[in-house]
Amino acid sequence: MTDLRVLIACEFSGTVRNAFLARGHDAWSCDLLPAEDGSNRHIRGDAREILNDGWDLLMVAHPPCTRLCNSGVRWLTAPPEGRTLPEMWAELDEGAALFSDFWNASIPCIGIENPVMHRHAKERIRNYQEFAQSVQPWMFGHPEFKRTCFWLKGLTLLTVTDRLDPPAKGTDEHKRWSRVHRMSNSVNRRHERSRFFPGIAAAMADQWGDQALALKRERLAA
Ligand SMILES: C[S@@+](CC[C@H](N)C(=O)[O-])C[C@H]1O[C@@H](n2cnc3c(N)ncnc32)[C@H](O)[C@@H]1O
Repeated sequence: MTDLRVLIACEFSGTVRNAFLARGHDAWSCDLLPAEDGSNRHIRGDAREILNDGWDLLMVAHPPCTRLCNSGVRWLTAPPEGRTLPEMWAELDEGAALFSDFWNASIPCIGIENPVMHRHAKERIRNYQEFAQSVQPWMFGHPEFKRTCFWLKGLTLLTVTDRLDPPAKGTDEHKRWSRVHRMSNSVNRRHERSRFFPGIAAAMADQWGDQALALKRERLAA
């Protein structure tokens, strides 16, 4: 049993938490929502309140991104029905402040996963740096398209573990791989779209778990 303390913030599904737990780490998920799997390794509440509790590794996969990501930038000039522009900009400020608090947390290793951001979001994030890499689920054994980015501190780029061959555009197979983008507009859509991929979670736990543990041992030996 190691003593690597891992906080998985903004996670109700337990996907990343369970990947770290399976490798013997002291991993906890935290979300405003209860744990979907009823785990007792879940803290329900605002993750910002526990950032200073002695974690070695913070993973955020991913924070609320509706107002931060490129695909939502149009709402900042033409809000969706029933919403106002000031509300949209206030939500952008909130989302950027939350990302900033995670990004600037006093934790040795930090990995945040989020879609590509627009410039208004970047301008609002304290000490913003460009994302370190972007990956696709099909690089980690999932036959799906959904590009996502990693912002990293104290961690190296994630190595691809199980690359599949993406199908040609226009084929039925390509449509199946685009499942996430083609989901119907149900109330659960946002939840389902944000659900993390176990293959990527396993790579994170293997690679970043080992790195964070090595760093911790170095810190303790120094
Ligand atoms: C885009 S979803 C990510 C879901 C995640 N990928 C999973 O598989 O469970 C964002 C999550 O952040 C949570 N959240 C928002 N603000 C939070 C905060 N301050 N502290 C903890 N969780 C928060 C929401 O409740 C939501 O479940």
